[in-house]
Amino acid sequence: MADPPPEIDALVSELTRAEKLSLVCGTRDPDGTATGYLAGVGRLDIPPFRLVDGPLGVRAEGERSTAFPASLATAASFDPDLAREQAAAMAREATAHGQHALLAPGVNIVRVPHCGRNFEYLSEDPVLASDIGRALVEGIQSEDVVATVKHFVANNQETSRTTVSSDVDERTLRELYLPPFRATVEAGVGSVMTAYNRVNGTHMSDHETLVTDLLKDEWGFDGYVVSDWYGLETTVGAANAGMDLEMPGVPVEPEADDADEFEWPDGIPDATHAGLFGSPLAAAIDDGSVPAARLDDMVARVLGQMARIGLLDGAERTGELDSQRHRDLAERVAVRGTVLLENDGILPLSDDADVALVGPHVHEAKLGGGGSSETTPFHSQSPVDGLKERAAGSVTTARGIDAIESVSLFDLLPFVEGGRDDADSAPESEPSLSDAVDAAANADAAVVVVRDATTEARDRDTLSLPGRQDELVSAVAAANDRTIVVLRSGGPVETPWRDDVAAIVQSWYPGQADGDALASVLYGDRDPGGRLPVTFAPAETYPTSDDRRFPGVDGVAHYDEGIFVGYRHFDTTDTDPTYPFGHGRSYATFEYGDAVALDGGTIEVSIENVAGRRGREVVQAYVRPPSVDGIDRPHRELAGFESLSLSPGESRTVSLSLDDLAFSRYDTDRGWTVDTGEYTVEIARSAQDVRETVRIER
Ligand code: NOJ
Repeated sequence: MADPPPEIDALVSELTRAEKLSLVCGTRDPDGTATGYLAGVGRLDIPPFRLVDGPLGVRAEGERSTAFPASLATAASFDPDLAREQAAAMAREATAHGQHALLAPGVNIVRVPHCGRNFEYLSEDPVLASDIGRALVEGIQSEDVVATVKHFVANNQETSRTTVSSDVDERTLRELYLPPFRATVEAGVGSVMTAYNRVNGTHMSDHETLVTDLLKDEWGFDGYVVSDWYGLETTVGAANAGMDLEMPGVPVEPEADDADEFEWPDGIPDATHAGLFGSPLAAAIDDGSVPAARLDDMVARVLGQMARIGLLDGAERTGELDSQRHRDLAERVAVRGTVLLENDGILPLSDDADVALVGPHVHEAKLGGGGSSETTPFHSQSPVDGLKERAAGSVTTARGIDAIESVSLFDLLPFVEGGRDDADSAPESEPSLSDAVDAAANADAAVVVVRDATTEARDRDTLSLPGRQDELVSAVAAANDRTIVVLRSGGPVETPWRDDVAAIVQSWYPGQADGDALASVLYGDRDPGGRLPVTFAPAETYPTSDDRRFPGVDGVAHYDEGIFVGYRHFDTTDTDPTYPFGHGRSYATFEYGDAVALDGGTIEVSIENVAGRRGREVVQAYVRPPSVDGIDRPHRELAGFESLSLSPGESRTVSLSLDDLAFSRYDTDRGWTVDTGEYTVEIARSAQDVRETVRIER
């Protein structure tokens, strides 16, 4: 146990037992806006402490906030500076809502393409997830709000998330699943939220080895560890494992007479099971099963974070909400996260093109997926609004097919109301496929907007687009060979019609600025700056396309693929992914000069924009290790990246510094190990588009 700062120590010593307990177990927020609430201790000028969701913007209950794009879109920018800006804006909005801790970022590795929460996460790659996650934490905390990195750890699926055990070996944990958490701890994150699942049989809230030995002792984490909501299993086990704060702490009290027999739907925690860090913790301290010093440490950790953000000084906290700079930022992130998957030259569109805008939801901004990250914006812009405002030619709209049903965690929750109303300003007329085909046939170009439907607490059954959307795309493409498909998805989707269309734009869930961002990219006002943070491939070719691995058998998800997740897997198979990790086209063209290795592990390469327009390039460095007998290693691993914008004819030298970790593997006996030998550093545009190589001896 680390010693708390003297002023915190002094404050803890003044607290009564009941007051201490009130600082480690949540209670109801009298204002009803917080997701989690501590009442504070008025007697000692300890104010209330409010925690609020989430990664895509602030979800203060009953309030509006800027709806930023999905975290996967932020990560697709490959730009930590941009992520930091977004996070700072979210924190200012949290403050404006009177909140003190943001329940973000989510940094779990995208292991399973079907996972319903991939849109809240960052990448299949630990270096990208670490760099973006670290920046998000820095941004949040730069505005004196506590960041909460979640969900620690190996929470990679929603199916049976409250019971499943992720069975994973230590090397895989160390190399893949833990690094983003470690990066945020190094960045000084104030809080870590444990996951609902078990790891190797032990529930995460009881996992002393991971929570105390690793997170607190080995990594030196000095903030507080908070449970996921209704995510504590035990009192004694959790307190002794190192949990510091139970949230929300108050049980839901079902009104129904037969509530006892109620069966909680899969993926929904039992919300009657709460208050374990209230009187049960007092009893456990009294009977000696939890040391009293543990409670003091829990309290000191919570107070330490309140002090760090200035809450104990009583200073006035002024935030910022829905300002012009936040609106612009939401749009900028949406553009920068947009990935141009295919373009046969049709894009950018000419200003005066007559466009048919087709799709069941073109009248509505795609804000996010379902669940605790749902943010209700002050205003949003649909694709129709965005294109009509920008186009000089005509924009004809047709829905084509029935709406895609959205799913939300809140529809699954018993006894609880919530969730966002997706305002859809669509006309009442029945959608018709033939109207869509006619509109497309009579236009210079057809833009078909399609989406998946993902939510917390559910995984997707399939990577195919739901409803009749594939049919819609094919029918439109048959009517107009200048068809552009705009995908909105929380992860990889299958694109069976890709050879029949002229361009594919992936915009994830773009948030409130949807229409503006889309128009900006389609008409070429700005380059789509995104690159894929996850591999797109046919569903059956992923390493988790086996029940034992996902969703698991007999309550266990076996991580048998080990470190071979995402491109690390596809590099070892004969299957070419549909779109590799790191892929994304630009409207500009870049030429790479010779790469050189400098002393100290820095690689320099010059990049020139040889096109007649400004564009954004993401330079990626992958390391190929030497082979060592008996050790399986991925063919290549991302080691660093740099996103840069270049004017026509401009050239710049990019420096990528590769630290020891970039060359290391985790050896369970020796720890992080750099094998002696020759390493190849690939300078690439994606995991499959290598432009330059340099060799480095280690
Ligand atoms: C459960 C989710 O897993 C977590 O991410 C969220 O912050 C809490 N609920 C609070 O809504």
